[in-house]
Amino acid sequence: MKYGYYDDDAREYVITTPKTPRPWINYLGNEGFFGLISNTAGGYCFYRDARLRRITRYRYNNVPMDTGGRMYYIKDKDSVWSPAFLPCKTPLDRYRCRHGLGYTVFEGAKDQISASLCCFVPIGYDCEVNRLTLRNESSAARTLELFGVVEWCLWDAVDDSTNFQRNLNIGEVEIDECAIYHKTEYRERRDHYSFYGANITCGGFDTDRDAFLGSMGDWSMPLAVERGECAGSVAMGGHPIAARHFELRLAPGEENSVVFLTGYVQLPDKKKWERPGVINKAPAKELLTRFAGCAAVEAALKELGEYWTGLLGRLQIKSSEQRLDRTVNIWNQYQCMVTFNMSRSASYFESGIGRGMGFRDSCQDILGFVHLAPQRARQRILDIASVQLADGGAWHQYQPLTKLGNSNAGSGFNDDPLWLVVCTAAYLKETGDFKILEEAVPFDGGVEANTPLLEHLRRAVAYICGRLGPHGLPLIGRADWNDCLNLNCFSKEPGESFQTCANFESGVAESVFIAALYVKAAGEYAEILKRVGRGEQGEEVSASVYRMASAVLTHGWDGEWFLRAYDAYGKPVGSGMCDEGQIYIEPQGFCAIAGIGLHNGYARKALDSVKERLTTKYGTCLLDPCYTSYRLELGEISSYPPGMKENGSVFCHTNPWIGIGEALTGNPEEAYAVFSRVCPAFLEDISEIHETEPYVYCQTIAGKESPRFGQGKNSWLTGTAAWFFVFVSQYILGIRPGFDGLELTPCLPAEIKGYTATRKYRGCIYDIAVRNEQNGGYKLTLDGKPFNGKALPCEAGRTYKVVLTV
Ligand code: BGC
Ligand code: NOJ
Repeated sequence: MKYGYYDDDAREYVITTPKTPRPWINYLGNEGFFGLISNTAGGYCFYRDARLRRITRYRYNNVPMDTGGRMYYIKDKDSVWSPAFLPCKTPLDRYRCRHGLGYTVFEGAKDQISASLCCFVPIGYDCEVNRLTLRNESSAARTLELFGVVEWCLWDAVDDSTNFQRNLNIGEVEIDECAIYHKTEYRERRDHYSFYGANITCGGFDTDRDAFLGSMGDWSMPLAVERGECAGSVAMGGHPIAARHFELRLAPGEENSVVFLTGYVQLPDKKKWERPGVINKAPAKELLTRFAGCAAVEAALKELGEYWTGLLGRLQIKSSEQRLDRTVNIWNQYQCMVTFNMSRSASYFESGIGRGMGFRDSCQDILGFVHLAPQRARQRILDIASVQLADGGAWHQYQPLTKLGNSNAGSGFNDDPLWLVVCTAAYLKETGDFKILEEAVPFDGGVEANTPLLEHLRRAVAYICGRLGPHGLPLIGRADWNDCLNLNCFSKEPGESFQTCANFESGVAESVFIAALYVKAAGEYAEILKRVGRGEQGEEVSASVYRMASAVLTHGWDGEWFLRAYDAYGKPVGSGMCDEGQIYIEPQGFCAIAGIGLHNGYARKALDSVKERLTTKYGTCLLDPCYTSYRLELGEISSYPPGMKENGSVFCHTNPWIGIGEALTGNPEEAYAVFSRVCPAFLEDISEIHETEPYVYCQTIAGKESPRFGQGKNSWLTGTAAWFFVFVSQYILGIRPGFDGLELTPCLPAEIKGYTATRKYRGCIYDIAVRNEQNGGYKLTLDGKPFNGKALPCEAGRTYKVVLTV
């Protein structure tokens, strides 16, 4: 069952009912000011950091989940409705929500009044524009009372939802004819305020939530709306809001637009005040004036569209499979940008008050993002490197605002540093900008940037080599990629964090996954060293890579597949000898990626085992059989019910590793099957089972042992986005950046007869045409002439015509 449809020309997903299985959301903003927006206009805004600079409030675990956000009420005599359905819940005569790239439009209609609400964050400005256009479709003049409301968050979103004894006493606002200004804590240590204004004269306002809602009132029918009039309340403590009321008269056929703006202003100390006690509103007014006219709003929307056309234009394809095209051309790339921006901080599953930026997460996000905006990727790599510790390890998470490591998550996740190497290699392959390696970067958020990035990479690699266990495999530390495989945790305390408690220091538990990741990452590092004239050092690294690969082949092979780990007692995890959790997905895919066992058939055999043991109609599961009881020595993985999350769901992030493995071992049909089983565009028809947005990947799909088999969770912020993009673009389509230039090695199933593509890369444009004749050959012409090299030439400014028959 579907709840909408793709409009590929408009680059939109159009939702046709507010009653989707879950809120289906979109993201607004790209640099400083961000908004999450659901298909009923729920969600919230923040500036840079969803925890520390939350602008509007969000209610966790609410029913309906989506209460709050951008709240609009149209009172038309006795009927009151919201253009996006919520908060009123009045049934609409017409409803559509169009989620586009960086904007969302709601189209609602009731009793011959139509409303179109367009929400977006203009490029370069710290505000969200909501343009509401009302049209009288009847033949009689109509008078409407319009209310627009936002509820302020008292900045620190954790404090806001916990520390009421203080924060019910601190709320402060200012009000003038243009806007309501939220200035809580501005009088003391904050240098920022927010505001909510509109471009027409306001008939009335409220800034105190209790006054607006009335006693026992709720957002579905506030007292002020029922009454048709605000109370003019001025918040002092309590729950400050910004509610504005307008009266609109519309002649038959007449249309009128109101532009609402939620904005954020930050000022240097000297400019904070207009006069004592009165905030400096000039920057807010400037913003309000800038977007006061509909022409300016249109122009900003157009600019946003062009911005996305420019970004997505770095890779565009055309094949006979529309679902593949829309995934590659629009939605997968879009999701990669969102994960780059948010890491794992703010979604409808990540509260924005928990995790900030994940070290390994942000590194992996770069793999899917680097081609879109290499300069931003560059800066991010340097930011992440500065969260690395001097011993080569890394803080596991950091706050985007402060760029400092989160002490509550700590460090000691032994795979973390290697991802820095992997993403730097991806950046170099995309850009050829080896200068980045010389950039001086601090360790541990230090003020002094004094260590070249290349040295950061060296320490990352050395960190692993210095922490090997009894089998010569890397020690796992708190966990590796699988945050829930906590082999040194031994937690018996309810509520204790599986990742950060320190109950057991085995110094024994080893990870085959980290070994494979090491082979991949350190292999790339050795290549980098060769290219910067440090061949000798590169040789040493290559030797360590060889040793690690041998250790995997000797101690990490179980007979039919790769082992997952050794636990704190030195017992194998992910082995046929275990009673449960006999086979895990991660090492099977990653060994193939690292090239381990390609020569002796182990890699192939492991992938065949994955097919047999882990593959289901909804994707490839993480392990089999799932754990049915809690295993003290394994940790969080066994805390989940069978088939959920790390305990045997289809943990989507890992599926591309298998798909890449299939491609590398020359199995295009299975590679494509791995792709299309999980790719959301292929799951649109089972939205009632899948439940999450059909336009973005989710983190997990409940596995076969779960009664909810097929149900998606944790959509949007997942490494799945980047890895699927790498998989589909570099391995299925085969457009793969290498250190020496772009390579073309497609692995297409028979049903895809070929494709054309445009790829912008290092200042060149490649017009690519691939014909899939399935003849086992490889015939490539470059500008009409046969070409036998590996990497395509790349002279900045040139357009190359590449034709490949395989
Ligand atoms: C989740 C993991 C996640 C970890 C983060 C666990 O509860 O299952 O997917 O990586 O928390 O700390
Ligand atoms: C989600 C986390 O963000 C990521 O870092 C981790 O690798 C996966 N869960 C698997 O546990």
